[in-house]
Amino acid sequence: MAQYFNEPSRTFSEYLLVPGYTGPDCIPANVDLSTPLVKFKKGEEPSLRLNIPLTSAIMQSVSGEKLAVALAQEGGISFIYGSQTVEDEAAMVARVKATKAGFVPSDSNVRPDSVLADVVELKRRTGHSTVAVTEDGTADGKLVGIVTSRDYRVSRMDPNTPVSEFMTPVEKLVVAKEGVSLAEANDILWDNKLNQLPVLSEDGRLLYFVFRKDYDAHKSNPMELLDDKKRYMVGAGINTRDYEKRVPALVEAGVDVLCIDSSEGYTEWQKRTLDWIHKNYPGVKVGAGNVVDADGFRFLADCGADFVKIGIGGGSICITRETKGIGRGQATAVIEVAKARNEYFKETGYYIPVCSDGGIVYDYHMTLALAMGADFLMLGRYFSRFDESPTAKLLVNGTYVKEYWGEGSNRARNWQRYDLGGDNKLSFEEGVDSYVPYAGPLSDGVRQSLAKVRSTMCNVGVLNIKDLQDQAKLTLVSATSIVEGGAHDVILKNK
Ligand code: IMP
Repeated sequence: MAQYFNEPSRTFSEYLLVPGYTGPDCIPANVDLSTPLVKFKKGEEPSLRLNIPLTSAIMQSVSGEKLAVALAQEGGISFIYGSQTVEDEAAMVARVKATKAGFVPSDSNVRPDSVLADVVELKRRTGHSTVAVTEDGTADGKLVGIVTSRDYRVSRMDPNTPVSEFMTPVEKLVVAKEGVSLAEANDILWDNKLNQLPVLSEDGRLLYFVFRKDYDAHKSNPMELLDDKKRYMVGAGINTRDYEKRVPALVEAGVDVLCIDSSEGYTEWQKRTLDWIHKNYPGVKVGAGNVVDADGFRFLADCGADFVKIGIGGGSICITRETKGIGRGQATAVIEVAKARNEYFKETGYYIPVCSDGGIVYDYHMTLALAMGADFLMLGRYFSRFDESPTAKLLVNGTYVKEYWGEGSNRARNWQRYDLGGDNKLSFEEGVDSYVPYAGPLSDGVRQSLAKVRSTMCNVGVLNIKDLQDQAKLTLVSATSIVEGGAHDVILKNK
């Protein structure tokens, strides 16, 4: 006879937190949102931690290099999508790792024989007023000079004037050599009253600019997630098919952590992938998933996963439950898997962080998922709305939206994620193609959401995620009390 679970499976919106005692020091400024990313032994520290408990979904419409940098600046980590060629994914990882905090590769470049009109057009396109003049016009060519808006007057000059006639030549520029630290570069900027400092290689090639205007921005990112060489941290998705090629390329590109991206992770394929990585790349950290119960967690924990991802069918663009009839309410899945994680820790002395993946709709769902035992969260829809996601921003019916599509949709055609072996690759869709409301820059959105999380944690009376997991009091809400939770029995002025 089939096994039945006694309780129906539930979603986040069916729960609320009940406040605990809030002491005088329990204020949002004192809340620490750092959290372990990978497995650690009792009494030891995990080798990787996040400064905020947010990761971005392994999806084409979410985790590109721009979003990865923006999220690392806030203290979280992106997992670059694996539904692209090995070379393209590794190149994306390498570009994130090459974006050093405060060191910016030049995005506006011309050759000495380009003309003023080219400079004006470039400025219009990028919005940046510092243009590098390199021998071959590339971002890392030999630097010949720079052009800033102080070097030309559009109204008085012939648009065909060659750049070489009005640029500031490299001989007259203050430059720094490769290896300069950010602190040293900033001192040079201030001492020489410069707006930008080119950093050059030994043979005079342009590596980066350091901008005076970024000095404050950098100072205001105290949470940024950096590796020991002060580079942004980044993760990457892999599949259970081509890992023998993909993993070496990603490791070579400098990836910090991997995650097997699969809609259902309680499989022999995940075990084989983990075994291969442990044997061939023993130091590389790799998460696995997705699972929704204790059995699935235990299996992946025993296979040596560094973290386990929870969630089947709860994603906003997901139609897995409708098409295949598998899955579980996200709240119930998190509660059960977190319990299994705690039991595993007691039994073995190994703590394996768990990640709640998908289904976060409101900011308070973040706090609930953490209170239910998740160590960190993975979000797709949430991040897809921001400027930095890789998709187009469109005007639809007078409102700005961004595109967001599932990895199981025809548009992504990510067959590895849904593959269960055999030749029948993605014969039906498990995801949809959609729009989401545009939400501005990532940093504003994330800071606002986490301000709410911090505030709720203070209501609960806790100052860190571990205490939230240990001390939160949660209550189920009845259907009628959900109505009570919104504005009700009033006539709203702005509908
Ligand atoms: P969201 O944050 O609710 O939008 O959910 C994002 C999560 O949905 C991802 O991290 C994946 O686990 C999952 N997902 C991504 N694409 C698909 C799909 O096409 N079908 C089902 N689930 C998907």
